[in-house]
This record gives sequence, C-alpha cells and structure tokens, in this order.
Amino acid sequence: MSDALKREAAIAALGEVRNGMIVGLGTGSTASHFIRELGARVRKGLDIAGIPTSEASRRLAEECGVPLTDFSAHPAIDITVDGADEVSPNLELIKGLGGALVREKLVASASARLVIVVDDTKLVERLGSRAPIPVEIVPFAVDVVRNRLQKMGGEARVREKDGQPFISDNGNLVLDWMHGVIAQPAALEQKLKAMTGVVDCGIFAGLANRVIVADPGGIRKMDRRS
Ligand code: 5RP
Repeated sequence: MSDALKREAAIAALGEVRNGMIVGLGTGSTASHFIRELGARVRKGLDIAGIPTSEASRRLAEECGVPLTDFSAHPAIDITVDGADEVSPNLELIKGLGGALVREKLVASASARLVIVVDDTKLVERLGSRAPIPVEIVPFAVDVVRNRLQKMGGEARVREKDGQPFISDNGNLVLDWMHGVIAQPAALEQKLKAMTGVVDCGIFAGLANRVIVADPGGIRKMDRRS
C-alpha cells in the first residue's frame, strides 16, 4: 500500500518538470519511483539532465536512461525531487535514513526549487517524533561527536549495515541520534553543523518549497509560506 502511495506522490512531482531543466535526483524508495518515471518520460522525448544525490541514484538513473550532468557543467539546479523521513507542518524535514543526507542537502541547496515526495506516514506534528537525526561525521571524530551529542540528550549509535559500520558515499560514518522531539529544528541544525567533525546532519530546515503527500484519499500539496 505504502509503496503504491510513494509512486503516486512521485508521479505527481513529474508535473513540475519542464523541457530543458536540470533536475536533482533524490535517494530512497520514493525518489527511485521518480527516477524511473522520469526515465519513461525521457524515452518519450522529455529533454532534461539529472544530478544524482547518491551512487545508488546515479546507477538507477543510468539504468533508466536519464541523462546525467554535474556541477561543473551546471552549477544551478532548476528543481530537485527527493523523499523524506519526517515532514513537519511547516515543511521542516528529517532526511538521511537512506544515508545520502550530505549530497541530498548539497543538491537541495543548489536548487531553485525542492519538491519532497512522501506518503502520509511521513507526516508528524513535531519533528523528531519518530526518526533519529542522522549525523554524518568524519570517522576520526566518532567518539568525540558521539559524546557531545549524548551530553545534549538521548543516545547516538553508529549506523550499521550487514553487521558492519555503514560507510556513506563520501567515505564517512553516520551517527543516528535518538534525540526525541526537536523544539527548534533550524537552531539545532546550525548547532550540529558548527560541531567540528560533523559533515552535516539530516535536519533540513527552510529548504523544501513543496511537499507532495499521497494518502489513500489522493494527492495533497503543502507549500512553504515565503
Ligand atoms: C535518503 C533519504 C530518503 O529520502 C528518505 O530516507 C526517505 O526514503 P524512502 O523514500 O525510502 O522512505 O533521505 O538519505
């Protein structure tokens, strides 16, 4: 059920893509639906080029025939379509459970427009209600940063995959910080970004322009008030 809803949200985002656009390609199961659908449109003549937010999305885009470019050829992106792990009512996000948060935030910040596609299970009243905050760190910093986070509250664990520490596309570790409800997402994001050893964190405050939500009743669009 949820996967069908994710696909519906992804298809709805295609309506925002126009000929000639540079398109940021998100990471995760919902963003993968978007990449597959985008590939189908390219085969019918849509002329775009994509910049992927992960090696997994790069491989999928190549398989689907989505032409790719990079920041040296195109430093500005017209639109990025990506998923999220949590979405608050004022469009703050937690992202990065798929491990691509640094490239996702970089691509989002270089985009004129960030459109997030989710099923309704991702909506929360308060950010941090369910998801941990992913924090990407350089490996040398692991003990120092973990202690600093835990002094601020909650528990921080090194993310694992197949019984081994998960290594991001950038060669880094990810701490999943079980923080609980975040009172001030933008302030906490800045605090984490200022911590030596932290590359970036999965709080995305003030970046999403639109969130497309698919629920059993249909598609809903939430727009950021500017
Ligand atoms: C990856 C992400 C994903 O967008 C997020 O985890 C949502 O994934 P999914 O669409 O599979 O639920 O931030 O780093």
